[in-house]
Amino acid sequence: MFSSLKEQPADKILQLMQLFKDDPRPTKIDLGVGVYKNAQGVTPVMRAVKAAEQKIWQDQDSKSYVALAGDPAYADAMISLVLGDAVAAANVAAVATPGGTGAVRQAFELVRMVNANARVFVSNPTWPNHVSILKYLNMPVVEYRYFDAETRGVDANAMLADLEQAQAGDVVLLHGCCHNPTGANLNAAEWQAVVEVLNRKGAIPMIDIAYQGFGDGLEEDAAATRMVAASVPECLIAASCSKNFGVYRERTGILMAISNDASLKGLMQGNLNFLNRQNYSFPPDHGARIVSTILHTPELRADWAAELEEVRLSMLGLRTQLANELQKLAGSDRFAFIAQHRGMFSRLGASPEHVERLRAEHAIYMVGDSRLNIAGLNAQSVPILAKAIIDVGI
Ligand code: LMR
Repeated sequence: MFSSLKEQPADKILQLMQLFKDDPRPTKIDLGVGVYKNAQGVTPVMRAVKAAEQKIWQDQDSKSYVALAGDPAYADAMISLVLGDAVAAANVAAVATPGGTGAVRQAFELVRMVNANARVFVSNPTWPNHVSILKYLNMPVVEYRYFDAETRGVDANAMLADLEQAQAGDVVLLHGCCHNPTGANLNAAEWQAVVEVLNRKGAIPMIDIAYQGFGDGLEEDAAATRMVAASVPECLIAASCSKNFGVYRERTGILMAISNDASLKGLMQGNLNFLNRQNYSFPPDHGARIVSTILHTPELRADWAAELEEVRLSMLGLRTQLANELQKLAGSDRFAFIAQHRGMFSRLGASPEHVERLRAEHAIYMVGDSRLNIAGLNAQSVPILAKAIIDVGI
């Protein structure tokens, strides 16, 4: 049987992680996978996470199953973190999932259960795993234009024009904030315009929010998601705790299904639970319990928010430093977009050849589409990167 297996395409982000690991050059710089690193190049366990783990270790007296949907206290905390009071709890069904990817996968499956022909619209570009999972599930994918190669911002007019093709029952995948891989985001008026098209067409928004707190702040980064959830009849939200709680390996995410018809909540919840049961039965609990403990304990929550803010500001500082450095070397403002982008990533808009030269000649690793992880930099490596960017002719 196994000899009939076909080779599977490698994931380019994970492939790059391996290449970096295997590179013996001591000066190598990893700007690939979306993992936060501090100035010492370490991905730290956040203070509040350590404290919550200690508390759990002391208090927990059983490792028995919790519930198919996960711990309700986790869902309550996450619904309030992401949605604030934009939507009443009575309108939201939610399940804990293994990471944000688990939530994305379950959301697609839920859509497919309802309508096998539903098309999923994704931005060009989007996080590669979105497309990979959709293809794996045999779901029709439609790309909408998003990134403006000239300005390195969002081409909102092109995006809106493409969304006009959506039909009732189609799903439009949007990044809640800190767009991955570009770092370019819609402004508030553009979000409103997107909602207007979706409502007119009867298409359903699905929001992937994996970087809340990395862009303009915890509340600010949730504003678009909240506005959408409050303005459409139905939507799906996949949220990840990997980055903003730094619990990458604990696989902590949540899928929310929201309807303005509260009588559907039981049906939605039953289907989300069913999907968990079919795919992996009970969702992992440890990461969710850490997050829930932090969000429900005022001192831990305040400390977590303060540390997250330090992370956010350090990334903004690196963005400004890199844009300034490049401004000096290039003698122009053509890299000013780096300071305007938000979140972990910026898409440089360089060719794959340029990216390959950065790797081969300068031991600088970024994803082939020129996505650069700002959090992989520090004050010392910014000038090295800036010089290399100019040196290879970007
Ligand atoms: C990324 O985009 O680098 C992260 O979300 C990690 C991943 O799983 O690809």
